[in-house]
Amino acid sequence: MTNIALLGFGTVGKGIYEILKDKEVYLKEKYGFDYKIVAISDFAFGNVYNPNGLDMELMMEEALAGKKFSKDVVDMDNVTLIKECNADLMCELTYTDLSTGGPAIDHCKAALSSGKHVVTSNKGPAALYYPEMKKLADENGVTFMIEGTVCAGTPIINLTDGPLAGCEISKIRGILNGTTNYMLSEMEKGMAYDEVLKVAQELGYAEADPTGDVEGHDARGKVTILANIVMGAGIKIADVSCEGITKITLEDIAKAKEQNARWKLIGSVEKKDGKVIGSVAPEMVDMSHPLAGVMGATNALTFTTDLLGDVTIVGPGAGKIETGFSILTDILAIHRNKKCC
Ligand code: HSE
Repeated sequence: MTNIALLGFGTVGKGIYEILKDKEVYLKEKYGFDYKIVAISDFAFGNVYNPNGLDMELMMEEALAGKKFSKDVVDMDNVTLIKECNADLMCELTYTDLSTGGPAIDHCKAALSSGKHVVTSNKGPAALYYPEMKKLADENGVTFMIEGTVCAGTPIINLTDGPLAGCEISKIRGILNGTTNYMLSEMEKGMAYDEVLKVAQELGYAEADPTGDVEGHDARGKVTILANIVMGAGIKIADVSCEGITKITLEDIAKAKEQNARWKLIGSVEKKDGKVIGSVAPEMVDMSHPLAGVMGATNALTFTTDLLGDVTIVGPGAGKIETGFSILTDILAIHRNKKCC
């Protein structure tokens, strides 16, 4: 039995819970995986804990109605709750802060130092403090899993760490932000910038503060994660040049169409003369290029490798269930590899 704590019960928190609930029987039969959600901490709904498992139907009902939790409420701050609860594993699903990493960074430290695995889609701790988190996890015999930080559930981190292990990767390039790709796709159909941004928020693609998406900061965080984890670069977010899509107008999009091209926000990491260079910028991509056909909230990344040449993966880059799946795949990896819970 895996006891789970959810830090954040917003779009992704609800997504992973829905998947766990809907696939409960399948996960038990296929993987011998069984779970209880024992704690939730959410800035809007409050902190709840029951060592025997929360009444999740009620928690979900209250959260969907925008009400505070009413059962198993505890008077503990987040860090105390994380440390004292009987969870084996904490899912850190609060909002991303790419300036400080907080509050997620405190949550991750509290979980790892009290012997709890961490699974997160939060880019803050991964982009700013991955080496520190990995060290803390190793010292405490647990794992720090971050598949959901890049391209939602489309396997990127696990692909380079698993099936592509042994290939040296010299370049990674592609579409790393679902919100902006969705916006650019819809703007091509004539929808105005503000209107389409609102829809992207409603669909759960955008960050809590969507300026992180449209100004390119979200993609910049992902480029930093890829540079450091896949290429061992040791770079900081500030080392990655960054321009978003805020200056792209409907006229620019129409002009690109006339030239048989499309605007895409491209993230790139490349080894050049022993240095790793990261960048995020809008580019006009010719229609004949495979990235031009990647529409909506879909992401696509091409890895240039020494043994296989180019390997491209295309898949969902944002969304409730799509990011929820990234959490599930890491939870199952912990269950499979560690047999701890
Ligand atoms: N806001 C992000 C995106 C979510 O649109 O790609 C996934 O990281």
